[in-house]
Amino acid sequence: MTNANLTIDEMATFCKRKGFITKTGEIYGGFAGFWDYLFLGSELKNNLKKSWWDFHVRHRADVEGIDGAIITHPEVWKASGHVDNFSDVFVTCKKCKKPGKVDKNELGKVNCDCGGEYDVQTAKDFELMFKTNIGEDGFGYLRPETAQMIFTNFKAVFEGARMKLPCGIAQIGKSFRNEIAPRNFLFRCREFEQMEMEYFIKPGQKCPHEIPDIEVLVYSEKDQKTNEGPKKMSLKEAHKNKIIKKDWHAYWLGQGLLWFQSLGAKLDNFRIRQHYKEELAHYSTDTWDIEYNFPFGWKELQGIADREDYDLKQHEKFSKENLKVFDEETKEKFLPHVVCEPSFGVERALLVFLYEAYSVGEKGKIILKLNPKLAPIKAAIFPIVKKPEFENIAEEIFKKLKKKFNVIYDKSGSVGRRYARNDEIGTPFCITIDDETLNNKTVTIRDRNTTEQKRVKIEALRYILDDLIDGEIKFEDL
Ligand code: GAP
Repeated sequence: MTNANLTIDEMATFCKRKGFITKTGEIYGGFAGFWDYLFLGSELKNNLKKSWWDFHVRHRADVEGIDGAIITHPEVWKASGHVDNFSDVFVTCKKCKKPGKVDKNELGKVNCDCGGEYDVQTAKDFELMFKTNIGEDGFGYLRPETAQMIFTNFKAVFEGARMKLPCGIAQIGKSFRNEIAPRNFLFRCREFEQMEMEYFIKPGQKCPHEIPDIEVLVYSEKDQKTNEGPKKMSLKEAHKNKIIKKDWHAYWLGQGLLWFQSLGAKLDNFRIRQHYKEELAHYSTDTWDIEYNFPFGWKELQGIADREDYDLKQHEKFSKENLKVFDEETKEKFLPHVVCEPSFGVERALLVFLYEAYSVGEKGKIILKLNPKLAPIKAAIFPIVKKPEFENIAEEIFKKLKKKFNVIYDKSGSVGRRYARNDEIGTPFCITIDDETLNNKTVTIRDRNTTEQKRVKIEALRYILDDLIDGEIKFEDL
């Protein structure tokens, strides 16, 4: 069994062929930077977002969630600095003639993906926010990040939910950026989703949580500048040696990595990288990214910025509203600091899980080893042969399980073919109704990763499936 070396274009073709994702308006030739999630992709994406929400919001006592508007008051984006600062530099490649984007500090220093030099003469500022008409003569922006709705609603949520510092507010939702050069399938799109959290503290407050004991490649600003290369070490060590300065940063980087690990990703393909000074966003004093080793290189999955009180201060200034909180102990009023902003792209995380899961078995058969929590279809139910006595039981099981899980009923083709079809789309379990079922009301359940089969009672199926998906029991323990 190998983890195939699939190019990003081959991954896009696989996703389209199996019904995960396709270009929007495909029948009209597609629309660069916009994608449609089909019957499997939409389930996979929903499962991924639910898992992030459970891990980062539902299972924690210190985080609440919101769901803000996509088009917000234009003043929000003036206050946040996006109207003045959120732009890239547009350039054209001298060799392939295609448009490209560079950060302001990269002009004249980086080349196009084709290896050609960018023509500095073509450089111009390119605003990344989409503007849209509102009513007869108004306008608004499609939000380029979900974060600002968290800041503008901060006080309502903090007070309404009776939160205490340190605490976080999270949001999952669509963001839009008029990217100059959308590319690499889902990696850089114009419409995408973010899973973001703003974590607020009293200035100087220490992290009460333990830094997760995880080893990962750490690439500090210093090591990048001296061409030393990243070094493998534990997050605790990186913090102790002052490479990651704030305990909060080490903790939240750890939470991000733990979430990937909890869904089966191996951390060998991950690293954390510090932004160098010139690269920092206008609001950030220190940023660390979680990066993944994609076939097109190490790329950002998640940014974790220290935003201090930049945003709340700006919104206080522009809205003239008091956004300070009251400290019962010291009787002081102050603006909380956002010590960490874990900000993930849903599409990039989804690509990671597809790459981690895609493997090729005997005779070139594809097996998508998605964690059962992520798998779009949880189980496929087969009558072993097309005869009413088998089909009736299979249909009954299907109807019962369907109320709780996304399962499918499949009676076409050989059983081997049905297994293969399901392995390819990541279905973790296949349930077969056979001769023995007719005698003792048991079925076989097959594990996708090992192809091992166990016999279980029909009446217990629902609970067994639930526990297998949640990881409460292991298949080998059945
Ligand atoms: N609120 C902070 C913020 O938006 P960012 O680094 O610009 O920070 C955060 O974006 C994450 O959103 C990125 O790490 C990436 O995963 C995702 N993202 C950003 N632009 C994207 C794009 N054009 N296509 C897909 N994902 C994108």
